Amino acid sequence: MERREFLASIGCVAASAPLAKVGARIPAEPAGLQLPMPPPRATMSLPPEPEEPGRLLLDRAWQFHQGDIPFPAIKGHGWSYANAKAGQAQGAAAVNFDDSDWPLVNLPHDWAVDMPFDRDANPSQGYRQRGYAWYRRAVRLDPADRGKYLELQFGAIATNATIWINGSVAAHNWSGYNSIYIDLTPTARFGDDLNIIAIRVDAEKMEGWWYEGAGLYRHAWLATRPPVHIRTDGVHADPRRGIDGRWTVPVTASLASILKTEAMATLNAVLSDAEGRTVAKGTVEAKVPPLGSAEAKLELAVPSPRLWSVDDPNLYTLRLSLAGPTDAEDQRVLRIGFRTFRFDADKGFFLNDQPLKIKGSCNHQDHAGVGVAMPDALWEWRIRRLKDMGSNAIRCSHNAPPVELLDACDRLGMLVMNENRNFNTSPDYIEQLQWLVRRDRNRPSVIMWSVFNEEPMQGSEAGYEMVRRMASEVKALDPSRPVTAAMNAGLFTPHNVSQAVDVVGFNYQPGLYDRFHAAHPDLPITSSEDTSAFMTRGAFQNDPDHHVFASYDDERSSWGSTHREAWKAVATRPFVAGAFVWTGFDYRGEPTPYEWPSASSFFGIMDLCGFPKTAYWLHRAQWVDDRPLLDLAPHWNWAGREGEPITVMAMTNVERVALFLNGRPLGEKAVDRFEMPRWQVPWAPGRLEAVGYRGGRRVAHALVETTGAPVALRLTPDRTVMAGDGEDVQPITVDAVDARGRHVPTAQLPVRFTISGGAIIGLGNGDPNSHEPEKGDSRKLFNGLAQVIVRADSGAGPLRLTAQAEGLRTGQVSIARVATTPRAQVAPTPSVQTLEGWRQSPASPDKPDPMRKPIDSDMNSWLWLGTGQIEAAQGEGNWISLRATFVARRRVQANGGILRFGGIVGRAEIWLDGRKVAEKPDFAEAPLAVAVPASSEEHVVTLLVESRPGLIGGLSQPATVGAR
Ligand code: GAL
Repeated sequence: MERREFLASIGCVAASAPLAKVGARIPAEPAGLQLPMPPPRATMSLPPEPEEPGRLLLDRAWQFHQGDIPFPAIKGHGWSYANAKAGQAQGAAAVNFDDSDWPLVNLPHDWAVDMPFDRDANPSQGYRQRGYAWYRRAVRLDPADRGKYLELQFGAIATNATIWINGSVAAHNWSGYNSIYIDLTPTARFGDDLNIIAIRVDAEKMEGWWYEGAGLYRHAWLATRPPVHIRTDGVHADPRRGIDGRWTVPVTASLASILKTEAMATLNAVLSDAEGRTVAKGTVEAKVPPLGSAEAKLELAVPSPRLWSVDDPNLYTLRLSLAGPTDAEDQRVLRIGFRTFRFDADKGFFLNDQPLKIKGSCNHQDHAGVGVAMPDALWEWRIRRLKDMGSNAIRCSHNAPPVELLDACDRLGMLVMNENRNFNTSPDYIEQLQWLVRRDRNRPSVIMWSVFNEEPMQGSEAGYEMVRRMASEVKALDPSRPVTAAMNAGLFTPHNVSQAVDVVGFNYQPGLYDRFHAAHPDLPITSSEDTSAFMTRGAFQNDPDHHVFASYDDERSSWGSTHREAWKAVATRPFVAGAFVWTGFDYRGEPTPYEWPSASSFFGIMDLCGFPKTAYWLHRAQWVDDRPLLDLAPHWNWAGREGEPITVMAMTNVERVALFLNGRPLGEKAVDRFEMPRWQVPWAPGRLEAVGYRGGRRVAHALVETTGAPVALRLTPDRTVMAGDGEDVQPITVDAVDARGRHVPTAQLPVRFTISGGAIIGLGNGDPNSHEPEKGDSRKLFNGLAQVIVRADSGAGPLRLTAQAEGLRTGQVSIARVATTPRAQVAPTPSVQTLEGWRQSPASPDKPDPMRKPIDSDMNSWLWLGTGQIEAAQGEGNWISLRATFVARRRVQANGGILRFGGIVGRAEIWLDGRKVAEKPDFAEAPLAVAVPASSEEHVVTLLVESRPGLIGGLSQPATVGAR
């Protein structure tokens, strides 16, 4: 809802009724109207996308250690030999590393946003130290899942990551923006034999020149699938309209099998419409070779579907189920949309054969308070903020976005320029590009693949050759969407990237639009990035000493344009498909043109919290055509500047605007929507009002008023209801009001918060120069506003937030939590110390000496055993010795503990540190436990095991050391 509709909703003005005639009394506004945020919605956020059967979130209870942990220096033959083997990773990557005192964190997690601002850190990363960290997690797998395909999935990790599973490297990932999928199946452990995931994150590495955060900042998942299954991102189902105008959905599912023999599988596809009615079905069979791949293809006919568009983002649901030789089916649920689009070199962009000017913004992925650890609901909120402004597109600059952002774009109707991060044609990087296309090629929102942003090689033959290769990779996976590249130079060199793309992206250079179009009349072009203007939200006077920009749209970078100039250049040229303003929201880092203490950018149409700058009302007035809109800048609190001229700007889409101060007419102006009317008004306290006209009729009204001093705090949520699922999040606006309940736009007060029924996960106020911590329970209002991001606890009941400031009435808000089943999570599993590295002596006819051990260079006569592995010994006789060493974890070191053998087969003696501590008199398999004394020394445990004919003795289950 925009402000005007809000007025109507609270009975102030009728949304479409003409206002009173000029000169007539303008109706008084009710109290509290000037809050520049929409009123609360009494609706929930969008429900989560359907869960993939068998896939669980792995977000909870990760053990976290900030800082690096050096690997031990390996010495000696025995250790060197062992270290070189699978499963034998050392240091914090080792299965048995003592992580018992590491704190637990939940994902999404960005540790950089918790760091203090540091002048020595990189301004591009928002003056936050990033560094290194480790994450570890134990995962217990149900023995019933043996034989299934198991996959770990990470949405992204900033920035370089090495992942070990059960002591073996499972992945090296050298980008902070792509997903990582790891096949757990071959080395999976089941039951009490826990799987240990260890991740070393190197966030010293940078891929950008903006804030990138640090750590496991997107979701993680554990997928359990039947042995014959559909690969992750393995479905291609992108509707096509035939030349006869009839639609089909060609469906290709990429299948895989972990079985030992060839298997037949049947793919069933059911497409249903938004009301749940089945509109098409299909079935196909495929043969899947063992450990191989196959494709199952079918086509669904949907002759005349309801189309997807930015105004009516109508989605269909495609349900796929794959029946293989086992009982369980593999299932996927996808949302797809039917729409056509094209870029015309003369006429710009068309969606469903209708011309549509792209009104977009470029955005990074961080928000106030949370950094890049964006909760899903905040993505939806951000896309709504952009849509409310009349925007219809977003460019994911300059990297692959999270799926949750794309979900919101598909569901809310937002076009996406989907951008690749690394410009590189070597295999690792081509894989990143292929992954992006594979993951996102079914989405109706995605209309372009951008292979790079501003690469110095763009005007060279090498750059051209690279883009030619990247474009060909994209086309191989998705022939339906154009490839673009965001060029800021090189457009006219003999060999350049524009010759290898379908749509040429212009970063800035509006002065070259006409020349390029004249030279290449058949090549579609769009702005891929424009504007780069500066504003500080709520400020209306430049103050370079304090790094403050007035928000009149007069300040811009040397390479950029003002918002108005940039839009005019695009809007007046039909052949330019659209605009992508740099940026929709402020972001950390790139505090251009300033540096310390400024830590975040000034480019946003909105600030880091999503509070509107003047640019917001400006774009809204330019991008929304139908509803009459009228807003005024600045606020009207200028005590001390009596009589001084104040620049007043109207942001409007009406034809004429008349301005009044305290009822006195100040002149009426014709509106040039590219420029917007301005007045110089000698300041006097009171009411500054504007009346807007279309066709001579009064259609809009705006008011700013001089307020009194703040007397109370106010909390305004985005929604009055939240899901009590432990995940739902929303931003709450904090402001101060005067005695008449009016928003005080100049308040700069410290505010303290208390919460019940939820948690504060971050705070912000949009001040690029603020060094207040983003976590905690307090924040200053900056130019009248602050934001608290709250997460609702699980279950029903109220979430209550209270705001206090000295001398002001307390602000309070109560939000209803609706009990909602949380998304399924992998259960937290405390990690335990499992004894590894068992050596087994050759067999002997007599009971062996418990002190006997292999010599360090003996790799062969004493066997190496895995946990719970029983193996017949070489040599003659019924006796063996099993030997392992361990240093207990810190708690056991201090207090002593218990060594538990899950199962011993055969008669046995147990020796610990040279003393016999237990005997097992029977041959039958049985567990056994012995006490471990408090000690930080290495313990030696030896089992002397006697077999008998027909029964091989040994350890049938893992042995663990834990607290008493
Ligand atoms: C562009 C670049 C953006 C950002 C912007 C600031 O050149 O593509 O990432 O740095 O400048 O104006």
